[in-house]
Amino acid sequence: MATAGDPPLLSMRGITKSFGAVQALRHVDLDIPAGQVTALVGDNGAGKSTLIKAVAGIYAPTSGTFWWKGEEVHIHTPRDASDLGIATVYQDLALCDNLDIVQNMYLGREVTKGSLLDEITMEIETRKTLTNLSVSTVKSVRQLVGTLSGGQRQSVAVARAVMRESELVILDEPTAALGVSQTAQVLELIKTLKSHGLGVIVISHNLSDVFAVADRIATMYLGTLVDSGPIEEYDTARVVDLITTGTSSRGASSPMNS
Ligand SMILES: Nc1ncnc2c1ncn2[C@@H]1O[C@H](COP(=O)(O)OP(=O)(O)O)[C@@H](O)[C@H]1O
Ligand SMILES: [Mg+2]
Repeated sequence: MATAGDPPLLSMRGITKSFGAVQALRHVDLDIPAGQVTALVGDNGAGKSTLIKAVAGIYAPTSGTFWWKGEEVHIHTPRDASDLGIATVYQDLALCDNLDIVQNMYLGREVTKGSLLDEITMEIETRKTLTNLSVSTVKSVRQLVGTLSGGQRQSVAVARAVMRESELVILDEPTAALGVSQTAQVLELIKTLKSHGLGVIVISHNLSDVFAVADRIATMYLGTLVDSGPIEEYDTARVVDLITTGTSSRGASSPMNS
């Protein structure tokens, strides 16, 4: 577990990204601690997805640096990110409906024994991962993913992402398509990840979800990270101000990355 004196799990410094004339990110400085949930909020087009895609190695920043546990690192490819222990769950989940849970968990990285698939090991490991994440609503790991509820699908996507020694999990709008009880399941899952000491970044438009799970809030506005701080310093009105205007006169004004 991280303690107070440790450097942040991930630090972003001066992250800038241009797409031709569009400056999607402007000198973003943000620290992501281990064992905490950081909510990344902002209006459509604010740059949230671009920022996490830079962290995930999908977009190379135009300039800026990443630091992992206090050391500068180069994240040029998704492989670089996953080698560090960064797992990203995108909004479209990319699961195969016609395959079962085990097959989805091991898609492209099947365990073999001689020339055969090692179904037993994969099944045991899948069950173990779901149990560790306290996912209890899935009845059989041999169920086709196409027959799962939205919350269960999200759980399988998270389980697949974290199965390999992840230390930072990034979730892009994990509850956007979910009903009330499925949302509650996913929020519980986020709390479980945090209780295991992982750092979590969650992008969400739903401020009640944000207030339910986040320890910190970071707000983006037109490509700039305009504010970040511990959740205790915010209420809904202040966050709405920040999202819609990039500034807020309400509440205690917190220094960046306090
Ligand atoms: N691949 C791309 N090519 C060109 N412009 C892009 C690309 N991806 C994002 N943008 C632009 O970058 C800005 C930030 O987008 P995005 O990161 O998707 O915002 P958010 O996720 O906060 O809604 C927007 O103006 C968007 O149009
Ligand atoms: Mg987005």
